[in-house]
Amino acid sequence: MANQQKNKKSTATALAPSNIAIVKYWGKKGVQEPVNPSISFTLSEAQTKTTVQHISTKENLKLEFYFQGDKKPAFIPKLETLTNRLKAYLPFLNKGLLTIESSNTFPHSSGIASSASSMASMAHAFLEIQKNIDPDCLDTDQNKLLSEMARLGSGSSCRSTMKGWVLWGKTALIEQSSNRYGLSINDHVHPIFNELEDSILVIRKGVKAVSSTVGHQLMDQHPYAAGRIEQANSNINKLLKALQTGDFNAFSQVCEEEAMSLHGLMMSSSPSYTLLAPESIRAIEQIKKFKEQNQVQLTFTLDAGPNLHLIYPKSQSKIVVPFIETHLKPLCENQEVIYDRIAVK
Ligand code: PMV
Repeated sequence: MANQQKNKKSTATALAPSNIAIVKYWGKKGVQEPVNPSISFTLSEAQTKTTVQHISTKENLKLEFYFQGDKKPAFIPKLETLTNRLKAYLPFLNKGLLTIESSNTFPHSSGIASSASSMASMAHAFLEIQKNIDPDCLDTDQNKLLSEMARLGSGSSCRSTMKGWVLWGKTALIEQSSNRYGLSINDHVHPIFNELEDSILVIRKGVKAVSSTVGHQLMDQHPYAAGRIEQANSNINKLLKALQTGDFNAFSQVCEEEAMSLHGLMMSSSPSYTLLAPESIRAIEQIKKFKEQNQVQLTFTLDAGPNLHLIYPKSQSKIVVPFIETHLKPLCENQEVIYDRIAVK
């Protein structure tokens, strides 16, 4: 009993959304800093919920991780790297028994970035535990701190600690931008971009043949690295202007160029690889044809995988949804399409 009183227990639960990048982060430097700035928006339905329980002991930190109710020891090395990096910010992570339980509201390997929402929700739950134990040790801006901590788990997750449009990475165009944390740019966005639909074509399920971690590494020696960094910076400029003025055509050009460049970089890495499936290309062809034949505001992007995100203003749903259902759904594994949208609030 006396022992139980000494071993204090603290629990916290946090939710975080996934995000989809329009200008892509591809290539790292230092500790999880990006080689170029990126811009994304957070999703509404796709979220991760993480509950963390910490029991204080005198021993060095021990970790247990459960995903959707199942114990997953394979994740422990990644979580140890994260908790080691976070000890400087959250002293409670030095000792004790830490049990982490995560679950997603969206299907696994569906083309929705799960590392972004899972690391952001975990960082948030850790922060809450530190606040329970000793709030005085946290005197910095907690929004920045949260985004920075999430970044140390997975780069893109620093864009999932706040809602809506987020810029991550230093650009001369926005003074407060930083490589260390994401910055909300919702105040710079025209209303049409706050009502975007994101319909995800699940072309192929299953684990990717080459992880994003390896993809980022391959950018270190990539023959087109310098050109890519220049392109991303130029696209940040174009995207910020399009978002501000409500110019969907300019938005669409950046969006598609970034998606194709990301996959072009994969195909031209050494060793080269491709994550696209034949159906991804067929879907892209169908979308281009549909856009040529109809006056429609519609664009697409790809993450590091074969699945397409179709992005369009809510006002276009009447024309876009029947097109997806008739022409694109048959290209998807088990005819699966996930209808999500931006979450700004
Ligand atoms: O955060 P990571 O290491 O999973 O890398 C994400 C990379 C992309 O999803 C392809 C692009 C991005 O900016 O989200």
